[in-house]
Amino acid sequence: MARLRLAILISGRGSNMQALLAACRSGAIAADPCLVLSNRAEAAGLAVAEEAGIPTRVVSHRDFGERAGFDAALDKALGEAGIDFVCLAGFMRLLTRNFIETWRDRMINIHPSLLPAFPGLDTHRRALAAGVKFAGCTVHFARFETDTGPIIAQAAVPVLPSDDEARLAARVLEAEHRLYPLALGLVAAGKVRVEGERAIVEAPAPTVQMLLSPTG
Ligand code: GRF
Repeated sequence: MARLRLAILISGRGSNMQALLAACRSGAIAADPCLVLSNRAEAAGLAVAEEAGIPTRVVSHRDFGERAGFDAALDKALGEAGIDFVCLAGFMRLLTRNFIETWRDRMINIHPSLLPAFPGLDTHRRALAAGVKFAGCTVHFARFETDTGPIIAQAAVPVLPSDDEARLAARVLEAEHRLYPLALGLVAAGKVRVEGERAIVEAPAPTVQMLLSPTG
């Protein structure tokens, strides 16, 4: 399988992006990060990407009256960079059906919950309110409905009685930084295929079903 030409789409901090860049640089993933794109010029992750020598671009959603125009501009930017695979990493825009279909099975996302539980915003607050005993994160192929699509890998962490939103989010984020590079690595190695709406992964179960202790 040829090396993927990868774009990472961000809106903010970019810590997942950083984890992906580090794993690509280490040789653990058969992908070349060719573009980091943000819809917000002030996204902190842009500077991190620049420092790592990755080309960056800003396509501001504010420049477009409709989602379709913004998504067409995104698609154009990806085309100009010769991108063939997209990682959404804290990219806070809803994408049109057309864009999602264009990138079907070539675009993955990370969400900080054990999907299909708690899609959308305020994930950790809702998980705490529901009293769940495990939280975690999911890497999945992107589909039109927010935070849906074939699940590639999940990591579970315990929810502790002393948790507040920030503590739980930090524990899950650590898990995200381990899970996202792992899932992308499997995709880049050609070990993931979609059948129906399920992702079939050729890897030992513990690899794609991480159970992590409170500290790590
Ligand atoms: C992460 O929790 C990710 O799962 C969610 O948005 C957050 C982005 O954080 N989609 P970062 O920008 O990767 O640090």
